[in-house]
Amino acid sequence: MYKGILHTHTLVVTLFLFIYVIKTILLLSGKNDLLTVFSKKTRVFEMIVSTLFLVTGIYLTMKLPFGGKFDYLFYIKVIMVLASIPIAVVGFKRSNKILAALSLLLITGSYGIAEVYAKRKGAPKESNTLIAANDGKALYENNCVLCHGADGKNGASGALNLSATTLDIPSIATVILNGRNTMNKVDMSAEQADAVAHYVTEHLKGH
Ligand code: HEC
Repeated sequence: MYKGILHTHTLVVTLFLFIYVIKTILLLSGKNDLLTVFSKKTRVFEMIVSTLFLVTGIYLTMKLPFGGKFDYLFYIKVIMVLASIPIAVVGFKRSNKILAALSLLLITGSYGIAEVYAKRKGAPKESNTLIAANDGKALYENNCVLCHGADGKNGASGALNLSATTLDIPSIATVILNGRNTMNKVDMSAEQADAVAHYVTEHLKGH
């Protein structure tokens, strides 16, 4: 479910940007007749795409691993997306080039922030080099709780339930060190990953 929504979101955001870029280029180059035709032809499609954009965006936001606190980058992203909408509406209605360009700038900027954000989310609270290589619990709390939760059942960002995992210790360590699908790899030593895998197996798996 989470992965499907994430892929849908990426797809509709890309389509949305694509339509937007074309419209802005047409407006900026003064091809107003072409812009009218293009806008008319893509109107229904654009409505579907923007609705999906918002709905999937809201769903993914609810699944973000924040541990209760929002990150300022996230706020900037949401403000940029929300601000770009009325600016675009007014810009295109009045054929105002500056507003149209500004709105495109905001929406592409927020796309960039989303990319940075995806990389940062799930980053460890502190550097793992400060944590003993055999302290599986501390390493789990520093790196995994955000998504998987203290009991392994949290499921933020589509994280799998670790109490129900069927993976053995070496396979868990492999997921940690290499990442898998939507889970980014976690930056820690092989010894530390082994300690976390033991912690997951002994304290969360089957509990
Ligand atoms: C940013 C969120 C996030 C963080 C942080 C995170 N995970 Fe994950 N984890 C996921 C997601 C998403 C999946 C599902 C990946 C997939 O679909 O293959 C996952 C899957 C797993 C799996 C596979 C479970 C199975 O049964 O197949 C294991 C094991 C796992 N994580 C352990 C950890 C451990 C241990 C840590 C900390 C060192 C950690 N994860 C940190 C999001 C996260």
